[in-house]
Amino acid sequence: MPYVQADNSGGLEKKVTVQTLHAMRGREKFVMVSLYDAPMAAMAQKCSVEVVLIGDSLGMTVLGYDSVIPVTMEQMIYHVEAVARGNNKSLIIGDLPFMTYATPEQALTNATRIMQAGAHMVKLEGGVWLADTIRILTDRGIPVCAHIGLTPQSVHKFGGFRVQGRDQARADTLLNDTELLSDSGADLLLVECVPAELGKAITAASRIPVVGIGAGADTDAQVLVINDILGLTPQPPKFSKNFLEQTGNIPAALKQYRDDVKAGAFPAVEHQFQ
Ligand code: KIV
Repeated sequence: MPYVQADNSGGLEKKVTVQTLHAMRGREKFVMVSLYDAPMAAMAQKCSVEVVLIGDSLGMTVLGYDSVIPVTMEQMIYHVEAVARGNNKSLIIGDLPFMTYATPEQALTNATRIMQAGAHMVKLEGGVWLADTIRILTDRGIPVCAHIGLTPQSVHKFGGFRVQGRDQARADTLLNDTELLSDSGADLLLVECVPAELGKAITAASRIPVVGIGAGADTDAQVLVINDILGLTPQPPKFSKNFLEQTGNIPAALKQYRDDVKAGAFPAVEHQFQ
């Protein structure tokens, strides 16, 4: 029987909380989708998607920018409010955009705005330097998802959207980040685009649930961007899958993604980095 049970129509029966996700760790994988509007948020609830993220990927998927750097607090708030109006059961995570959490004071001010827009958790990108900020937010009642690996806000530092941790030094840094961030009070860790073996090692080293995207099959949860699930991305990343192609309609595509994650069928080997 699934940990989060379905209502009569197959949707989420109860609100998903941080505690739900922690209790699922090691028992059942949970599913996250990055999406941006009320109808899709409602569809995610109906398809029993436990977590929805309003990612700053919206800059590229919806707003037509070539990176996430231009995304503003006002744009994030507009989309968090829309998603929160469409879904009252999934746990809602809102991204803090580029340079809105460079100091703990900025992080507190801007995380407060995202929470007041309807999010239940905020997501921030970075490694050890974030530990103090995370402690300040979580001590004040703001749950945090820390995002490591390929952090798209640092695309110009990385020289492109590149797989991270292929060399031992970077892999060691990511493992060190994992330990420090999971000890800093963060509630979730998201790891993007690392070799599958490193995704597995990060999950083993983490004291909190790990959500993967392009991080192999051994993380505690998976996240994909809705545009990739629905085949809307002109050059889809290797780690993604068009679930609409095989199912023919949006609810069936979301359910297939969810079922495949739960069954361990997604990501398959062809979606993983070695
Ligand atoms: O912005 C986003 O949608 C994300 C996911 C790709 C994890 O950070």
